[in-house]
Amino acid sequence: MGFATNAIHVGQDPDPSTGAIVAPIYQTSTYVYEELGKTKGGYDYARSNHPNRKALERTIAKLEGGLSSYVFTSGMAAIDSVFRLLRPGDHVVVSEAVYGGVYRLTTQLLVHFGLEFSFVDTTDPAVVLGAFRPNTKMIYIETPTNPTLRITDISVMAKLANERHATLVVDNTFLTPYLQRPIELGAHIVVHSLTKYLNGHSDSTGGAVVLTRPDDAEKIYFIQRSGGAGLAPMDCFLTSRGMKTLAVRMLQHNANGLAVARHLDAHPKVRKMYYPGLVNHPQHELARKQQKGPGAMLAFDVGSVEAARRFLNQVKICALAESLGGVESLISLPAQMTHASMPKEVRDRIGITDSLVRLSVGIEDVEDIIADIDQALLYI
Ligand SMILES: Cc1ncc(COP(=O)(O)O)c(C=O)c1O
Repeated sequence: MGFATNAIHVGQDPDPSTGAIVAPIYQTSTYVYEELGKTKGGYDYARSNHPNRKALERTIAKLEGGLSSYVFTSGMAAIDSVFRLLRPGDHVVVSEAVYGGVYRLTTQLLVHFGLEFSFVDTTDPAVVLGAFRPNTKMIYIETPTNPTLRITDISVMAKLANERHATLVVDNTFLTPYLQRPIELGAHIVVHSLTKYLNGHSDSTGGAVVLTRPDDAEKIYFIQRSGGAGLAPMDCFLTSRGMKTLAVRMLQHNANGLAVARHLDAHPKVRKMYYPGLVNHPQHELARKQQKGPGAMLAFDVGSVEAARRFLNQVKICALAESLGGVESLISLPAQMTHASMPKEVRDRIGITDSLVRLSVGIEDVEDIIADIDQALLYI
């Protein structure tokens, strides 16, 4: 079956007891046993599992081409569970331009449990190789990165990881399996913030881990039910509903993203543009090779914090908000919002200037998005 068909049908069977085409939200904490030692449908307690979670996990595993997937209360909870596969003394090589929350989790929390992290430019394989230590067990990459849209070659990273018996983890939040298929390129584990494009409607948080190896899958399921951060029925339901339109949404996001990026690139008030779909992006060719489209995340520099403040306070259709990947356009200033927990010297090194604006282009009429940006740019 094709991607859109799978997104609508896999895991989404009609309710067996009523025939309802959309299965109900199983808003229950516990399940009554038929007799001691025998449950009705394999469920006993909602922390461990429930039908809405199982349905969503089946769809995500299918779309990413994985063996199985497990969903969590947020993208960060999903990512945290992946690092819990490691043991004290293990070392991870991480994309230096990683989402601020991952930087915070690793440098301020997980280091206290004996894990070691090196943040390097994963767009350069020689640098990744140089960062390897005898105890390196994982390469963790985000591609494209948030918010500077740097691209790491997934196949090259997979080869490096395999040669050194390390696990390659790819955060595929920015593109979704519709635009990028990390497992086909050799990734062992894929993570997502479901809060973004997979749900797509900005009405729940969630995260997913997609596994390719039975051993990892068993451990992640153990972490999910022991740690208790599995996604709740209502949020699973909302995410499953959102995912049914993933293919059409991503097509429109892609088209709108490209149109807005071209417009901004030619705008005299924009100092620097970051978007892999533009031929002047340094990794445009790699993006064309490993992605089915450039996506709808872009960033641009407006020259000063004051200019950024004036611009952001004037947008009307683009909502000044954290998050991304919703049907509505969302705009932010990463240095003060999503990446505020990253030290300024690190932000400066990876190009997150104080005046860098990030835009998640929604699927409104693109003329309206562009008109909104243009009127706000007049205030700079
Ligand atoms: C690329 C990426 N990964 C992970 C996360 C974390 O996801 P969540 O906010 O659902 O915890 C985010 C959040 O913005 C993100 O942008």
